[in-house]
Amino acid sequence: MENHSSQAKSDSSPDWTPWLNTTLRGEIESLGTETPDVKTLAASTLRLSNHYVSNPLERSPWQEPWAIQALLAYYHPLNLSRAGTVGRRGQERQFFSGFTDLVDIGCGSGAASLGLRPLAPFQRVHLFDRDHRVVERAARLHASLEAPGLASPADVKSGILNLPADPLPSFSPQHLVVLSYVLTELKDERESASLIRRLTSGHAGGLVIIEPSTSEDARKLQRLRQILQESGFHIWAPCTHAGECPLLLHSEKDWCHDRTVPFKPDWWEALEARLPMKNETVTFSYLLARREPPPNVPNLARVTGDTLIEKGKNRQLLCRSSSREFLSWFPQRLTKPLAHFQFERGDLFQLEDIEIGDRRGPENAIELRIKTEALERLKQLLKR
Ligand SMILES: C[S@@+](CC[C@H](N)C(=O)[O-])C[C@H]1O[C@@H](n2cnc3c(N)ncnc32)[C@H](O)[C@@H]1O
Repeated sequence: MENHSSQAKSDSSPDWTPWLNTTLRGEIESLGTETPDVKTLAASTLRLSNHYVSNPLERSPWQEPWAIQALLAYYHPLNLSRAGTVGRRGQERQFFSGFTDLVDIGCGSGAASLGLRPLAPFQRVHLFDRDHRVVERAARLHASLEAPGLASPADVKSGILNLPADPLPSFSPQHLVVLSYVLTELKDERESASLIRRLTSGHAGGLVIIEPSTSEDARKLQRLRQILQESGFHIWAPCTHAGECPLLLHSEKDWCHDRTVPFKPDWWEALEARLPMKNETVTFSYLLARREPPPNVPNLARVTGDTLIEKGKNRQLLCRSSSREFLSWFPQRLTKPLAHFQFERGDLFQLEDIEIGDRRGPENAIELRIKTEALERLKQLLKR
């Protein structure tokens, strides 16, 4: 069996904390506040968060220095961490092989493309946003990567791109296009679908889409998955199959999303102490798509839910077909080390039918009673 553990540590999964503490801090200081005053940063963050909540379709106010301050101090570390985890999910499937150009559309401060840079030896990075103030910052932050050796050197190019009016740049199959927290800012689902159709009718070889983990955004993303497939693209992650999404098919509100532990710069604790939002872990929804199909790995399964602890029984949502399935087991019947084992969202592994003892429940919530030997095997594989 191939090792499809999502926890496999890899050299291309760097620790961003020193870079956040030096380079990103320097960028925040360049806004005029010599030593970032955490009280001011917290006020700016709350203001930008309220802006997004009350005016989800309005432009990000990048003309305001306080908004850039909040973007860099708060949103940048979180979105960089999300993209880094999306990158690791892709790496488990060899998603990045062959790409030479990374294109970040709606790049903001470049958090997503920065998080993805270490995953492949990209030769060029192309940054686009409708606001020149953020593109310039993103370009500077990308240029800084060479020094700490976080990623291989790349030419960084940038430009203004106003969706949906402007024509898209021309791409080749070696171009990987990133849209991170951008579709959620477009007018409606029709505009998102039209952007996806424009991108897929060009020559770009792959797409990384990251969206918020709300039920609405994530279910919209699963509907866009169908458009990607109709346009000849194949989904490499998080889906483990090309069939209909079980959560769209069998549930009115369930949504597929993932979770990660964010990198925290040294101002984080003080900043978060002044905010109502806490980020021990952060969630996101995402899709990785390429023109060619992913390597064929039989019996591939991904954990797409947190552990549900019920009377004596643990249940966890699993994606491996268009059925809405849960793995289940009884911790009290297991030896101590195994009783504490839980899967994590995003875990990817092969699971053969003979490793499931019993299958029960209705079509929209099938329970797969996993055998103890299989739990033991997966505990070892996932190194928990
Ligand atoms: C929420 S921010 C996300 C920034 C970045 N991608 C990230 O992951 O941190 C959304 C970005 O998309 C840009 N954007 C939104 N609508 C756009 C449009 N119609 N055309 C070009 N850029 C747009 C905004 O200026 C903003 O920088």
